[in-house]
Amino acid sequence: MSDTAARTEATHEHVSLAQSWIANNYSPLPVVLASAEGAWVTDVDGRRYLDALAGYSALNFGHLHPTLVAAARSQLDRLTLTSRAFHSDRLGPFCRDLATLAGKELVLPMNTGAEAVETAIKTARRWGYEVKGVPDGRARIVVMAGNFHGRTTTIISFSDDPLAHDHYGPYTPGFDLVPFGDLEALEAAVTDETVAVLLEPIQGEGGVILPPEGWLRDVRRLTRERNVLMVADEIQSGLGRTGTTFACDVEGVVPDIYVLGKALGGGIVPVSAVVADRDVLGVFTPGSHGSTFGGNPLGAAVGQAVVGLLATGEFQQRARQLGALLDDGLRELLGHGVDAVRCRGLWAGVDIDPSLMTGREASHRLLEHGVLVKDTHGSTVRIAPPLVIGEMELEILLDAFRAILR
Ligand SMILES: Cc1ncc(COP(=O)(O)O)c(C=O)c1O
Repeated sequence: MSDTAARTEATHEHVSLAQSWIANNYSPLPVVLASAEGAWVTDVDGRRYLDALAGYSALNFGHLHPTLVAAARSQLDRLTLTSRAFHSDRLGPFCRDLATLAGKELVLPMNTGAEAVETAIKTARRWGYEVKGVPDGRARIVVMAGNFHGRTTTIISFSDDPLAHDHYGPYTPGFDLVPFGDLEALEAAVTDETVAVLLEPIQGEGGVILPPEGWLRDVRRLTRERNVLMVADEIQSGLGRTGTTFACDVEGVVPDIYVLGKALGGGIVPVSAVVADRDVLGVFTPGSHGSTFGGNPLGAAVGQAVVGLLATGEFQQRARQLGALLDDGLRELLGHGVDAVRCRGLWAGVDIDPSLMTGREASHRLLEHGVLVKDTHGSTVRIAPPLVIGEMELEILLDAFRAILR
């Protein structure tokens, strides 16, 4: 059945409005969502779907988590924006709690993930010049092949994905690309002018790519030895998704800089942050960096409530326990239409046998079976359900997979 035939009138109307009025920078699946709760979403025709993407991990706590909605509601009635020209009674408590959760001393609040990555890059460069003593304008940052850190001009300058990178030059210099998980290449790329190694502990957009065991620990050792900052972009991997608060925790690694976003805003408002110790984040001076909305009271109230949920450890535990079931269930499909499964916590990349269908086709078929996921890179389907998902819902997800591969 074609997409168009499957759509009812309301869906059709919204899709055609979108096609008429929205720039063509995405190709959403033909489903128009109107409401949601927990792990479930409902479309304009009243059909319910299990959300197994969770806003690319921005909805780790599910849709409309009551604690987060209550925090947002009560803040909406009090104070929503101050700019950083003044203090608010929300920002200090949020940053204290977030720094404590991360075991760090300072927080620099921003809004989107890309802004936080930009902030981390500026932090590392400035640290390089003012603390490490790299000659001005010469700082270099080592980044990983297959990376995804956002869409700004500087960030896409070091993307090796032609779709993200091409036709946006001239590009920002100062980045050296090495293969993800390759310690030797990393060692060779680090010079006296290197100020940071920027990595995703698990590459999300890349297809949930796990580095070889021990690699994060090796990167930590190498960056310490060479006086280089280890910057972990945990925007997608962090905040409970992998069964630990941060994906780096799996190897007991503490980077110099955490870059956080997505779930930090509880799926309600964009909240991102750079979290590090004073000897690193202390490089900023008034006026040298900022954002009108960064650290706004509404975002801070929600962010603090998010940190409160994470501090209980409940979500990390759910991701561990249910993640083991997800891993087992997906592994049973190996050789039955699935070529590879990479799972960490409630996060999985599933490579569909390309002779059967593309990842995109698999996503369409799963949609027809009431499950929303997103393809990435040809034949891979990414699964990242909200961490509030239950065992029964996980079974619905696995059943849908079994059905489309039959
Ligand atoms: C690892 C990582 N870093 C950065 C970003 C960019 O975040 P945003 O889309 O909020 O700018 C993303 C988004 O997918 C991401 O996965």
